[in-house]
Amino acid sequence: MDAGAPVIAVDGPSGTGKGTVCRRLAQALGWHFLDSGVLYRAVGLAAQRAGVPLNAEQPVAALAANIDLRFVPDPHAEYGMTVLLDGEDISAAIRTEEAGGAASQVAAFPAVRAALLKRQRAFRRRPGLIADGRDMGTVVFPDAALKLFLTASPEERARRRHNQLKEKGIDVSLRALLEDIRARDERDRGRAISPLVPAADARLIDTTAMDVEAVVNEAMRHVREQGLA
Ligand code: C5P
Repeated sequence: MDAGAPVIAVDGPSGTGKGTVCRRLAQALGWHFLDSGVLYRAVGLAAQRAGVPLNAEQPVAALAANIDLRFVPDPHAEYGMTVLLDGEDISAAIRTEEAGGAASQVAAFPAVRAALLKRQRAFRRRPGLIADGRDMGTVVFPDAALKLFLTASPEERARRRHNQLKEKGIDVSLRALLEDIRARDERDRGRAISPLVPAADARLIDTTAMDVEAVVNEAMRHVREQGLA
């Protein structure tokens, strides 16, 4: 951890292009990258594998505090890194819809979020950090040099996810995805702790009618305006 290293916090729901934008920013600036959703996904997966019920706050929090989780940068991997849980590659296992649902369940527990706080802050190193999540600008890095909050309509986000899955040869109904997105949004926005809301000083980007390139350009404009590039 290096409290002096600048942070760009990028928050918002999934399907807004957030992940891609963050990776592109990290690449363009040569900064570190934290995909905080991976931590929640890994905890959900670890709990399922250990037979710990997802609704058991304390046992899940104990897992969150103790799991052996490592990130290995890999330019050939789909998300630019390999994720190891107890030395096993879980990069693919954490990306399923089911893992996303499990993540959102364990993420609602204050004790789980507290257990992951230090781990997330440890990513803050020079020359800087791009932090991707739901509460990067509000809770984890409230002193971020720039806070972006990406949104898009649920319908557009479901359509994007549908296309992504189709490219992988996975056929899921659009309607089921939309319902899933709505349920997860509700849980993420409505939870008592670290709800998915923009920080007061966040800059909002509605990506509904934008392609990824346009979102990256808009994000870079804010980065430059803030004197970070
Ligand atoms: O971003 P991703 O889809 O990987 O996140 C999975 C889930 O983890 C989210 O739906 C959310 O419930 C939770 N999460 C969170 N806080 C973060 C990142 C993810 O609560 N900073």
